[in-house]
Amino acid sequence: MSAPLSVPPLLIYGCGKMGGAMLKGALAGGWPASRITVVEPHPAAELLTLQREAGFALNPAEPALAGLMLISIKPQMLDTAAEGLSRCLDAQSVVVSIMAGKSITDMERRLPQVTRFVRAMPNTPAAIGRGITGAYATEALSETDRAAVTRLLETTGRLEWVASEALIDAVTAVSGSGPAYVFHMVEALAKAGETLGLEPGMAARLARATIEGAGELLFQEAETSPAQLRQNVTSPGGTTAAALEVLMGENGLTPLMTRAVAAAEARARALAG
Ligand SMILES: NC(=O)c1ccc[n+]([C@@H]2O[C@H](COP(=O)([O-])OP(=O)(O)OC[C@H]3O[C@@H](n4cnc5c(N)ncnc54)[C@H](OP(=O)(O)O)[C@@H]3O)[C@@H](O)[C@H]2O)c1
Repeated sequence: MSAPLSVPPLLIYGCGKMGGAMLKGALAGGWPASRITVVEPHPAAELLTLQREAGFALNPAEPALAGLMLISIKPQMLDTAAEGLSRCLDAQSVVVSIMAGKSITDMERRLPQVTRFVRAMPNTPAAIGRGITGAYATEALSETDRAAVTRLLETTGRLEWVASEALIDAVTAVSGSGPAYVFHMVEALAKAGETLGLEPGMAARLARATIEGAGELLFQEAETSPAQLRQNVTSPGGTTAAALEVLMGENGLTPLMTRAVAAAEARARALAG
């Protein structure tokens, strides 16, 4: 747990999967419950239990002004929620939005009193504290604002600040959507195993445990590059080398992944309009 620090009052607006993960992370990271308010029209049983245990404010009749607001509702709910959001914000508030596809211009239009915006893109391993978030902040944020936002966003894993808002689409394409690519790699490896005669259940277990273990190795060997980890298990002329010749060939994984990620980025831009 980090040392207590003076943190701004945090208002979490929309507390479903991602808002809930951030709330749990903030509490575990030492954000005082007395400085947290949650607005959530249909609190899940887990949220109600957490509220009884931790004692943060849940759905107060008149939420106080937010020093720091996390907007974690679905993007399509922004128009409906704008009036309620606006009541909790003034010119000093910092707004962190994780809504996919909602630009800072979109938010400025609905919340004209705010200038300090952060647009962030987390990913699903946030739920187990192993996420990575990419974030962009407007110039109006002070160093103190940034420190508070960093503290909030790092509660669910790691954080990378990007230099332009446009790069949030690239973050979305790489790490936001990335967990699904890895899950698909498990499926592809299992299918490939089946073609070699392995029983489907066993092929699935072999593939899944391989990706789980390789991911954990990457995590534990943080100082070693992925290229080095790969070389460590590749003997010249051996079986791994034979497969890597295919995967690293002209039509191998890198050009394929580049196309996949470009498609995701293009889609992110199109959805943002
Ligand atoms: N999950 C991810 O991996 C992920 C990754 C990156 C970004 N995001 C972004 O994170 C946001 C939340 O996603 P999620 O997966 O956590 O969705 P979710 O589980 O549906 O959570 C959204 C929550 O907001 C609540 N809500 C709806 N209208 C509201 C209002 N007017 N005032 C207050 N709360 C309201 C919803 O309540 P009801 O269910 O009762 O409507 C729900 O509990 C989205 O904008 C998404 O783009 C998610």
